[in-house]
Amino acid sequence: MRKVSFTEMDKGTKEEYEYLEELEQQYIAGLPDRLLAALKRLDIPCGYELTRMQHSLQSATRAYRAGESEEMVIAALLHDIGDDLAPCSHSELAAAVLRPFVSEKIYWIIKHHGLFQMYYYVHHLGGDRNARDLYKNHQWYNDTVHFCENYDQNCFDPEYDTLPLEFFEPMLRRVCSRPAHDDPEYTARYGEKELKV
Ligand SMILES: [Fe+2]
Ligand SMILES: [Fe+2]
Repeated sequence: MRKVSFTEMDKGTKEEYEYLEELEQQYIAGLPDRLLAALKRLDIPCGYELTRMQHSLQSATRAYRAGESEEMVIAALLHDIGDDLAPCSHSELAAAVLRPFVSEKIYWIIKHHGLFQMYYYVHHLGGDRNARDLYKNHQWYNDTVHFCENYDQNCFDPEYDTLPLEFFEPMLRRVCSRPAHDDPEYTARYGEKELKV
């Protein structure tokens, strides 16, 4: 692969940056493949009835069968993707991955699902299960409660008819091809776009 010659970014030429941008676009196009690989890395025993990948598939399946939007189904599929590299802040990592492709509301739900999810278990460990009440008056509080209640805390059932990863792959590719969120870094690079809430 051809390499540009500058060693400091402010010395790069227009031609060099146009070339790098081409490579960047190819790299971005490979994101769905990397996300699928990341999900497969979560297919290892973790003490629950299901692996994290199976849990993610069950989450996406339940969201799909409940008639949620494609964005929401894919958010459910990826909601624990951060467990691999950010086990102590996994919600934020998943939300950051999803941010360019989902509505602000879905971004918020995923970003906060870890805290809301504590309602179901953290009191057993001496924690405050109502910590989510910090956001009691937030416009998306109930939506996040709904997500955890219906697409997360109940998704550890080996008897449930969970759909396979292949079922969600085309959906994942579609969602990743439609930037939606008002992310300042994205907008600075690619310009304004229609926003979804
Ligand atoms: Fe989670
Ligand atoms: Fe989860």
